Amino acid sequence: MKDCNKNSDCSGRREFLVKTAGLAGGLVLTISGIGSALGRSFADVSINIDSSSPLSKIGGSVVVDSSAGKIIVARTGEAAFIAYSAKCTHKGGIVEYDAAGKQFVCPKHGSKFDAGTGSVKEGPADISLASHTAKGTAASVTITVG
Ligand code: FES
Repeated sequence: MKDCNKNSDCSGRREFLVKTAGLAGGLVLTISGIGSALGRSFADVSINIDSSSPLSKIGGSVVVDSSAGKIIVARTGEAAFIAYSAKCTHKGGIVEYDAAGKQFVCPKHGSKFDAGTGSVKEGPADISLASHTAKGTAASVTITVG
């Protein structure tokens, strides 16, 4: 398990897998497909929450790097969190959490995604955000990346 806070770089495995897949015969797979094809899961991400963290408040969010790409984590309750791929499915913008609207919004072209399901509320994106399991307390949250 990696210990990543805020936007620290936890990548490395992804680049390795991409290079390995390319060398192994030009396989064309998505990053999650590579993990599945190799029978491995991605490394979990653990985030410590101190008083300066946006996650110290309900409605706060952070974007963290993981071996599966950027993930947006939002705090929705005292010990309730949600986590989705932060990469917009339209053209890769990094989505932002809108707590009042209970949605993720892409600043590039305005796509909106439901914060409960990751599904598209408003295009131009037409594919949902991938979800990840997030479990935590007031002091930390762990994202199971898969
Ligand atoms: S990249 Fe997100 S709406 Fe276009």
